[in-house]
Amino acid sequence: MTDTANSDGVTIDWARLKQEAVLATTRAYAPYSHFSVGAAGLAEDGRLVTGSNVENASYGLTLCAECSLISDLVRTGGGRLVAVAVVSGSGEPCTPCGRCRQLLFEHGGPECLVDGDGHVRTVDELLPGCFGPGRMEVDR
Ligand code: THU
Repeated sequence: MTDTANSDGVTIDWARLKQEAVLATTRAYAPYSHFSVGAAGLAEDGRLVTGSNVENASYGLTLCAECSLISDLVRTGGGRLVAVAVVSGSGEPCTPCGRCRQLLFEHGGPECLVDGDGHVRTVDELLPGCFGPGRMEVDR
């Protein structure tokens, strides 16, 4: 993946993001599925944030790598995500699950770029017409 600029002209170093996502897979806790996932994201202020999946014996409580990444984003100062790369332990891109697409929408908005399958797509393409904070302002 070559570097790209988003709609705000921010240059995204996809190779670096992928490298950090691969590193994050080595910190996953996945004793049940044995499917490690790592995510790395670029915040609008240039910060790099990462996450790994954290499983639980009560399987439904598992935290996806993107969920950990959002936690890292908020914990380190918040702001908007500009780009995210997600990979599995083999280093191959891993497309975000439905719940994580919603999390990325909340913290990255529709224009946030995601490499989850080797192609860069916007969150809006991954989750078209979704519910979000803006909808609540309509008729709260
Ligand atoms: N997983 C993620 O971390 N992110 C996704 O978007 C898809 C799934 C994790 C959850 C679980 O630990 C493992 O992959 C198998 O589902």
